[in-house]
Amino acid sequence: MSRITSLVGDITKIEADAIVNAANSSLLGGGGVYGAIHRAAGQELVQECRLLHGCKTGQAKITSGYRLPARHVIHTVGPVWRGGDEGEPDLLASCYETSLRLAAEYSCKTVAFPAISTGIYGYPADLAAGTAIKAIRSALGDLPGIESVMLVAFDEQAHAHLVKALKRKED
Ligand code: APR
Repeated sequence: MSRITSLVGDITKIEADAIVNAANSSLLGGGGVYGAIHRAAGQELVQECRLLHGCKTGQAKITSGYRLPARHVIHTVGPVWRGGDEGEPDLLASCYETSLRLAAEYSCKTVAFPAISTGIYGYPADLAAGTAIKAIRSALGDLPGIESVMLVAFDEQAHAHLVKALKRKED
């Protein structure tokens, strides 16, 4: 069975060893999935984020999950979509890869991702789904400890892109 699955839901409700947050490079403040995760986790999450001194685009940092059902939150910073010729696909792939490597370092077996960059940052959801799945497949090749990666779409339309990309053969 594939280690990668997709579902429609609210990532703040997912019981995984780690959920991934789509943050900005300050790791402090935001709406979208960031706002939902911080509301559900409580004030302690932003306090820990202040100690991290930000994060570069394409990189990831980890904290505790506080009041979330998830044990950890991995904060990654996706690229802003500028048309696709400014390194966006490599940066987006790097978000997924570095998040999974960090999860493995912290012995996480189950990891849930939102569709990074596809909201406020404007990355087209179909392209983002393809890049995400390719990067996850490639990273899982040498991360045997990660048993399950859940891709959490916020609505049916976003989910359809994931389903389509998951059906595609390795490209
Ligand atoms: N669960 C799952 N997915 C969610 C949830 C949720 N509770 N809330 C929003 N989403 C989805 C959005 O529908 C979108 O598809 O997460 C995806 C990412 O959207 P954004 O949160 O806007 O993230 P992003 O596009 O990466 O923009 C990051 O937004 O909040 C600010 O500080 C953050 O500046 C940064 C920017």
